[in-house]
Amino acid sequence: MIRRIAINTGGGDAPGLNAVIRSVALGALNRGWEVLGIRRGYEGFLENDPEAIINLDRDRVRGIFHLGGTILGTTNRGDPFMYPVVQDGKKVPTDVSDRVVSRFHELGIEALVALGGDGSMTIARKLMAQGLPRVIGVPKTIDNDLRGTNVTFGFATAVATTTDALDKLHSTAQAHRRVMVVEVMGRHAGWIALHAGIAGGADVILIPEIPYHLDRVCEKIEERYLRRSDFAIVVVSEGAKELGADAMYKAGKDAFKEHAVLGGIGERLARQIEEKTGQEARSVVLGHLQRGGSPVSFDRLLAQRMGCAAVRYLASGTESGMVAQVGGEMVLVPFDQVVGGTREVEPGSDEVETGRDLGICFGDEPIGTFLNRVAVHGGKAPTS
Ligand code: F6P
Repeated sequence: MIRRIAINTGGGDAPGLNAVIRSVALGALNRGWEVLGIRRGYEGFLENDPEAIINLDRDRVRGIFHLGGTILGTTNRGDPFMYPVVQDGKKVPTDVSDRVVSRFHELGIEALVALGGDGSMTIARKLMAQGLPRVIGVPKTIDNDLRGTNVTFGFATAVATTTDALDKLHSTAQAHRRVMVVEVMGRHAGWIALHAGIAGGADVILIPEIPYHLDRVCEKIEERYLRRSDFAIVVVSEGAKELGADAMYKAGKDAFKEHAVLGGIGERLARQIEEKTGQEARSVVLGHLQRGGSPVSFDRLLAQRMGCAAVRYLASGTESGMVAQVGGEMVLVPFDQVVGGTREVEPGSDEVETGRDLGICFGDEPIGTFLNRVAVHGGKAPTS
């Protein structure tokens, strides 16, 4: 019989975090449990901040389900197994996980609901091995790259924001007869670029899973101008790479995964396109706009379904794992099936084939290849 649980949010924020916090709190309070909120991931535990733990009562979670961000704060620098501890004036990554586990025991916390991406799920699993009581993970990331679930909350909002930006960029691109190159987030997965690119009518979509050739991209752009569609929209994922090259980093390329900052490919590509095609090109980096704002209704519903499912799993069993949506249903997947890698776009997936059917260039095939393929083989049948 559970009496006290805690919630934390780790990694980059994503629209829907507050909706999950509220739904977990209400589901637990309605069962007579006490709910504690841990501020700023595990940092709240590790620094002697008197406000590190807050009581999530009904007043604390009132009116927050539609708000972006997280009332608990978050960090992607708070891994307790590599916590930056100052030694001789320098920050040294240090394993302080024992301090986190003892704080849980001191506070009498019987279970943790951890809202996060693959980094947070990996940490949760390692903390359990060190003696943390039960953990139920809830999959959060705008990148949609978490294994074990068909979808993560925050993704739909990021796609909606990006699609809206593409709509706006169309008119200015057309007015100036320019190529607009739009760099979007997603780390090493192209979900945001792919979904928003199709929804927002992009001419070229470049994703990490399909390395591109600059010539193919430029051919597509030249074809647009030849056909008198005198502008082009290129959506490039921050982790996209040219065939045989590495992704572009702004900082920390060799650092721990979440500390490396991807970026810069949009501007480089715009310069290359301008040089090769002679068409004027501009780049736009959507950046953290994609993480901001109110969650769209899909994310609000998903977040609340996942939060309530987390509480039901705590109430009804003894297992740990991550809540996931699989085939429309909520299930609990073992952490082993989630950690150790990310979920990437399948180059032969229905979404990519849809893009090809629409004539969108992915930077791999020369123009005409797709039409030839259809003429010869009738195209690829939709996947069941
Ligand atoms: O994982 C979410 C994400 O927004 C990525 O798409 C992006 O690469 C990264 O976080 C940016 O992180 P930061 O908040 O450190 O700039």
